[in-house]
Amino acid sequence: MPHRILIFYGSYRADRQGIKLAEYLVRAFAERSADAELVDAKAIGLPMLDRMYKEHPAGEAPPVLEALAEKIRQADAFVFVAGEYNWGIQPGLKNLTDHFLEEWFWRPAAIASYSAGRFAGARAALAWHGTLSEMGMVVVSSSLAVGGIGRAFDSDGAPTGESGASLERAFPRFADDLAWWAEAARSQRARANPPY
Ligand SMILES: Cc1cc2nc3c(=O)[nH]c(=O)nc-3n(C[C@H](O)[C@H](O)[C@H](O)COP(=O)(O)O)c2cc1C
Repeated sequence: MPHRILIFYGSYRADRQGIKLAEYLVRAFAERSADAELVDAKAIGLPMLDRMYKEHPAGEAPPVLEALAEKIRQADAFVFVAGEYNWGIQPGLKNLTDHFLEEWFWRPAAIASYSAGRFAGARAALAWHGTLSEMGMVVVSSSLAVGGIGRAFDSDGAPTGESGASLERAFPRFADDLAWWAEAARSQRARANPPY
């Protein structure tokens, strides 16, 4: 059965650039026969966090939260497309992730960072690593880092230039690493209930 991979992206800007990386990743995982889906926080339009999903009485969460919770529970692995704002995490994506907790548990996550500058969102990636670990995901050691995001894709969304070429070189190992852990977690879930 193909791995179900959710690709999360959280910029709300009108001129957002990272969407090209997120869409590239959906295509690249699909080409490897994964069942990959983009989860675009802006398109979903969650409100700023008030009650977490689990704080709603069972069956009474807003439909948008209920649908996303189910998607997260059904996934084998997650990819966080992490842009960098002022050396930190983009608020739109953090807002989305904070609505959930147990729904994320016992699956691997990978970080694909990007930024306009040459550090490629490395500081946001570092922040996400701790956050995702705290939220019960196993963060794989392979990562992607795309600098100069505004020039890394052509008008058709294909990787281009130095940053684009570097992304294409790095993607296979990144995807192999995530697939290995996704399979390991899937087997273990079938073998034994999680400890809590
Ligand atoms: C509020 C804000 C803060 C930013 N801070 C950083 C930063 O700390 N490091 C960096 O390399 N780029 C920074 N940038 C530039 C972003 O990397 C660039 O605008 C990128 O395209 C943002 O992602 P998005 O287009 O998907 O929203 C910042 C941009 C914004 C809007």
